[in-house]
Amino acid sequence: MSNLRNNLVLIGFMGCGKTTLGRWISQNVSMAFYDTDEYIESKQNREIIDIFATDGEEFFRDLETETLKEMNEKFSDSVISVGGGLPIREENRELLKKLGIVIYLRTTEDTLVKRLDNDTKRPLLVGIDIRSKIHELMMQRESIYESAAQIIVDTDDRTFGQIYNEIEDIILARLNTEGGKKHEIISD
Ligand code: S3P
Repeated sequence: MSNLRNNLVLIGFMGCGKTTLGRWISQNVSMAFYDTDEYIESKQNREIIDIFATDGEEFFRDLETETLKEMNEKFSDSVISVGGGLPIREENRELLKKLGIVIYLRTTEDTLVKRLDNDTKRPLLVGIDIRSKIHELMMQRESIYESAAQIIVDTDDRTFGQIYNEIEDIILARLNTEGGKKHEIISD
C-alpha cells in the first residue's frame, strides 16, 4: 500500500459524515484537517453551488483533480475529506492512493435520504426527487468507493465517537507500518 504522505483520506457519498468525522479524528489525533470542497471554495472564493451554476460540473471536476494534485504535493500527516463525486475519475483514484490511507464511510440510502432531505448546498440534489437521485448515483458509485478504499466502515446508527473508536487501532497500525491487508471491513 502506498501511504507515502501519511494522510487519512475519507471518501463516501454526500451526507455520509466525511467532514464532521474528519474534524473529529483530526482533533483526536492532533492532525491538521482539510476538505477538498472547502479548499476549492476558498480558492475560488465562491460556493460549489455557484461554481456548478456558472461553470458547470466538468469545470468543478477539473478543480477537484487539481486540488488532489496540490494536496499530494503539500499535505502530509493530515486528515483529508473529499467530495462525494471525486473518486469517480480514475485519475483521482490514483491520486487518492498516493495521498494516504483511504477510508470509505459506507452509509445506506435510507440514512442518506433522511440526512439530505431539504439540502440546498448540493447542486446534484437541488430541485429533484432526492431518493431516486441518491439511488441512481449509489448504483454508479458504490463499487467504485469500495474498490478505492483500504478500509470500509459502516456508519449507520453509529456516533462519530464510536466510528473513531472502531477504526482507531487500524488507523494507528497503518500509520505505523507499510503494507497490510487490502480491505478491513467494519460492518454491522
Ligand atoms: C458532490 C459532493 C459534494 C460536492 C459537490 C458534488 C458529488 O461534496 O463535492 O456538491 O458529486 O457527490 P460532499 O460529498 O462533501 O457533500
